[in-house]
Amino acid sequence: MCPPHDPPRPAAPPNPDRDEANDRHARAARELQIRTAQLELIDRQLALVCWTTDSELRLTSVFGTGIPDLPSDPQPYLGQPVHAYFATAGVPEALREQSEAAHRLALTGARSAYQRALGGQLAAVQVEPLRDSAGQITGCVGAMLPLTAPIRLLHELQSSHDRLQTLTAQLLNAQETERRAIARELHDQIGQELTIMTMQLQDLVSAEPAQLPAHVEEVIATIDQVLAKVRTLALDLRPSQLDDLGLDAALRWYFERHCSHARLHLHLDLTPPHPRAPAAVETTCFRIAQEAMTNILRSAQASQVWVTLASDGAGLTLTVRDDGRGFDVAAAHAQAMQNTSLGLLGMEERAAQIGGRCSIESAPGQGATVRVWLPLPPAGAPPEAMSDH
Ligand SMILES: Nc1ncnc2c1ncn2[C@@H]1O[C@H](COP(=O)(O)OP(=O)(O)OP(=O)(O)O)[C@@H](O)[C@H]1O
Ligand SMILES: [Mg+2]
Repeated sequence: MCPPHDPPRPAAPPNPDRDEANDRHARAARELQIRTAQLELIDRQLALVCWTTDSELRLTSVFGTGIPDLPSDPQPYLGQPVHAYFATAGVPEALREQSEAAHRLALTGARSAYQRALGGQLAAVQVEPLRDSAGQITGCVGAMLPLTAPIRLLHELQSSHDRLQTLTAQLLNAQETERRAIARELHDQIGQELTIMTMQLQDLVSAEPAQLPAHVEEVIATIDQVLAKVRTLALDLRPSQLDDLGLDAALRWYFERHCSHARLHLHLDLTPPHPRAPAAVETTCFRIAQEAMTNILRSAQASQVWVTLASDGAGLTLTVRDDGRGFDVAAAHAQAMQNTSLGLLGMEERAAQIGGRCSIESAPGQGATVRVWLPLPPAGAPPEAMSDH
């Protein structure tokens, strides 16, 4: 006799809803596993700390233990105001206010990014709103990343990139402005003189022989005026002294001309390098000096200007100092980054382009000094590297 068998169980009826829920669950679990692995890797590679808060700014989670000045065990701080956790690193009151403001701002939907000193090093902090799946703000999420050398380098690269972008836009604008000025000058100055000359020549055709010499004198006088204007225009664009006589001659001509027009007392102490600096160095130095002088004329209200040019084996130094009203250099830089002016950034970029430096020292009421250092080719360098005039 065969033992009695259990009757076969009927197969569970297909349930598409349950299968899909299982699928979703498996996918979510897998996603969570991947994200956790990624975060653990980030935590090992980067010394960073991330945290979340609820809408009352109480700490709800902390991830990462990479910042030595913060408690390695955040557990006792969960449920406490978020600042209690950071206060353990001896955060000064002003920084606490900054952090509090950033968290409050996040609750309104805004994102803040700032840098702060923490335990002797600089850290980048970012605070953003934390939202639920419906998009409602339920608290804040923040991250703090110490600015180690490579990361600081990245930040500097980014800010230098931003500066370059600003400068490029400003340069294009400046080019158009310059073209417009030259066109206006050609039209108003030269065009006018040539029209006068045409009329004088027409008079000449119908003039009595006895009047001819006087008419010819008039035409010659007009031609002289046109020539003088063309020469000034050309010199403003690129002084021939710069090519023919050297940097010191060009600087002397330029500063004497502008200071005498503006009744400024000028002190010149110019010793050019020997042998002559390469053309790129001379042009850069001259253009920076031009901008420094233009700024003095436009903004300084100075009565005296001091210009020095000196060199040692390694480089050439130019200083342009005035005794005018001075200005807040940091504020002017910040303004320049908003696309409002080109001069200060342009001077610095010009110098940097050939491996030099340009710094501006000033304070309200204290005049201003533009200091430029540009590298010279080493002694004994091949002639083509020494000069390309
Ligand atoms: N020697 C100076 N004395 C007083 N203020 C100065 C001097 N040089 C610069 N500044 C201030 O710094 C600001 C920025 O200078 P910058 O050369 O960048 O711009 P700008 O001269 O106003 O315009 P531009 O782009 O045509 O040069 C000036 O507007 C001026 O307020
Ligand atoms: Mg300027």
